[in-house]
Amino acid sequence: MPWSNRKNSELLERARRVIPGGMYGHESTALLPSDFPQFFSRASGARIWDVDGNEYIDYMSAYGPNLFGYGNADVEAAARRQAELGDTLTGPSSVMVDLAEAMVSMISHADWVMFCKNGSDATSMAMTTARAYSKRRKILVASGAYHGSQPWCTPNRTGIVDEDRSHVITYRYDDIESLEAAVRAADGDLAGIFATPFKHEVFADQLLPSEAFAKAVRRICDAADVPLIVDDVRAGFRLARDSSWSTLGVKPDISCWGKAIANGHPISAMVGAQRFNAAARSIFCTGSFWFSAVPMAAAVETLRLIRETDYLEQTVALGTRLREGLDELAAAHGFSLRQTGPAQMPQILFHDDPDMRLGYAWSANALKHGVYFHPYHNMFMNAAMTVADVDLTLKASERAFSELKAHRTRIPANENPLVLARLKRAQ
Ligand SMILES: Cc1ncc(COP(=O)(O)O)c(C=O)c1O
Repeated sequence: MPWSNRKNSELLERARRVIPGGMYGHESTALLPSDFPQFFSRASGARIWDVDGNEYIDYMSAYGPNLFGYGNADVEAAARRQAELGDTLTGPSSVMVDLAEAMVSMISHADWVMFCKNGSDATSMAMTTARAYSKRRKILVASGAYHGSQPWCTPNRTGIVDEDRSHVITYRYDDIESLEAAVRAADGDLAGIFATPFKHEVFADQLLPSEAFAKAVRRICDAADVPLIVDDVRAGFRLARDSSWSTLGVKPDISCWGKAIANGHPISAMVGAQRFNAAARSIFCTGSFWFSAVPMAAAVETLRLIRETDYLEQTVALGTRLREGLDELAAAHGFSLRQTGPAQMPQILFHDDPDMRLGYAWSANALKHGVYFHPYHNMFMNAAMTVADVDLTLKASERAFSELKAHRTRIPANENPLVLARLKRAQ
């Protein structure tokens, strides 16, 4: 069946009449190449099908939640068993305690857990807990880091007032001097420091922090008696079976989790050390769906798979195979890629591509050959992927590179003003 996006275009037209902009937030296709589908009909394992029936090997994994494959049989069986008993009830099910025990046993800095729905819930709770603990106001975040869509952290300032951000101070990621300057700017009013496990911003190369930086954040937080908050929402359990900074020998005080912890079922969590228990207990936070039992049962099973399978080694090996294969193909066609960050969370950008026209054209070509690569956001390998999938991907990528080479001089400039603005911000 030849690739087509007719149904997607019709749906988008209907959506624009009843949904502002036809879509919002990170699921909007406004920043993507124009052919990218917005609507999908189903998914299984490592594959997704868009509403036009086009099948893709999916390197986005739902922007992170898919760790063991869409519809993983073990996770879905656990979710179904719980669904038969009940989901959103007048109070939580006992599975909430099972899940909290599992997380505390797996995350080395964790003594307690509070569950919520989205990553933004967890990071906002962490900020509030930090202020409740320290009785101070200033929160340090790395410039450009994404911690969610709440007024204090959203990257889009529309509708946000200065007061929402007046106690947020930025520092440059992996830059100890800049961090120290931000601490000085807090002027004795420091409440807590946020760090993502590595720098994973859109439109930019990814950057793993130095051990010295992670240790400096730890030291500064200890000296000021404020929590070090690692935002593991995106990278959690993709770098380690523990908090991501366990790989650097640094224990956070509080960490935030979401995305992959229930293999796609909606649940997130704030996890903390005993010293911050009383502060966490003192804040008011809740939601109508935060105690739903089905996602908790799915999370218990996902955590079992994390403990008992080699998913991590597998996703690293597959990501490395993909990275090496793409580098070879790019070079063979006269291109050079910037592949950064952990291999299992690949970011693929092109050298000599200031307006990203090459990257956009290449990912649009790959899409037509059955591979969903994202042109500006980091991607996520999942454990349902196989060597055969990666090899199929490389075949499709080879076609995408050779089309790119053939049309290189005729690829139009990237004139999407939204893309150009984001690129400028990322530089
Ligand atoms: C590092 C990080 N923190 C927080 C969030 C917010 O999570 P959510 O979109 O589930 O609210 C995200 C989402 O991408 C994220 O990547």
